[in-house]
Amino acid sequence: MGKNPKFETDAIRIQAEQSHHREHSVPIYLTSSFTFENAEQGAAIFQGKEKANLYSRFSNPNTSEFIQKLCIMEHCDDGVATASGMAAVYTSLVANLSQGDHVLASKDIFGNSLFIITNILPKMGVSYTLVDVDCNAEWENAIRDNTKILYVETPSNPTLKLADLEYIGQLSKKNGAIFIVDNCFATPYLQQPMLYGADLIIHSATKYIDGQGRVLGGAIIGSEKYTAICYDFLRRTGASLSPFNAWVLSKSLETLALRMDRHCSNALKIAKHLEKIPMIEKVIYPHLENYPQFELAKKQMKLGGGLVGFEMKGGLDAGKKFLNSLKLHSLTANLGDSRSIATHPASTTHSKLTEKERLDAGITPGFIRLSVGLEHIDDLILDINQALSV
Ligand SMILES: Cc1ncc(COP(=O)(O)O)c(C=O)c1O
Repeated sequence: MGKNPKFETDAIRIQAEQSHHREHSVPIYLTSSFTFENAEQGAAIFQGKEKANLYSRFSNPNTSEFIQKLCIMEHCDDGVATASGMAAVYTSLVANLSQGDHVLASKDIFGNSLFIITNILPKMGVSYTLVDVDCNAEWENAIRDNTKILYVETPSNPTLKLADLEYIGQLSKKNGAIFIVDNCFATPYLQQPMLYGADLIIHSATKYIDGQGRVLGGAIIGSEKYTAICYDFLRRTGASLSPFNAWVLSKSLETLALRMDRHCSNALKIAKHLEKIPMIEKVIYPHLENYPQFELAKKQMKLGGGLVGFEMKGGLDAGKKFLNSLKLHSLTANLGDSRSIATHPASTTHSKLTEKERLDAGITPGFIRLSVGLEHIDDLILDINQALSV
């Protein structure tokens, strides 16, 4: 566990070992491999009898530092850094599944994660069932004897629905399944799924963990029983995180708490503002009092997060007009950046799904997702008002 009582301190103070240069800021270890003192040591490291860096596809001081910090923040035993969030999703599933297994997942998850479950896993002889993330009875009814993995994203992308982590965690334990949670939207600062029975946690570090839209990266952390399997799969298949990206991401963790406080306070103010605008049909934000899962959101999430969803009256045309009128917000595919971003999921992130799959996931034509950044709240509201012509 952590060296200090509060993880914000560990996020700043944990560092890879200093070199003989006594640097204050950790350098980037741009090396493919590491030397052995002699043949015996080489053999011991190769055989796993001595724990040390060997080759950067396996581990590197920068990736280890990044994972060590994340594990403390998430209350996890161990983990592995991946080249992207999708590499983490794919590895966590494929490394732990065999032909004949069944996966139970929520319908509204990131489009590419859904694609892996519905298009790639079946080619390996793995079946699946999709359920509504917020309906506990559906989870219970769909579980089978061969269900090996329960997979959720909470809050979900992009509709911001919540999974009841404690309920699904208990269901998973009762049935001896592995409970995987994509915690990318909440980050470890707002929500720690291990406390509710998760076995593995996924991060797209590309989002809030980087926080400035610079690098791709991911992580799988959790209980050692399952992270060891993921580590073995990853070191053989190769989607490891580069030392440079790990260095950026580890540095970014130093400011995660501060940034998330500002993302969340800006997002709550915007959600409350949008609620008052007549041309907005509905606003979705987990810490709004009229949010359907408000009590659950308060229980699981320290704050409501940096994403706000809303439905425009006037559907697709109104949504497009809004996006085209924004001056400050960026139109781009990412989220969790210091710069605010507006997205129209039906025509971008979720465009590869069929219309039925989109509607099943709650993505209607007029749905807009805002990733609320760190700019001054007054400027963000001015931009939204002018784009809505209010
Ligand atoms: C919830 C969620 N999980 C995983 C991913 C994939 O992450 P990456 O783009 O780093 O591969 C994304 C990307 O948007 C996401 O939103």
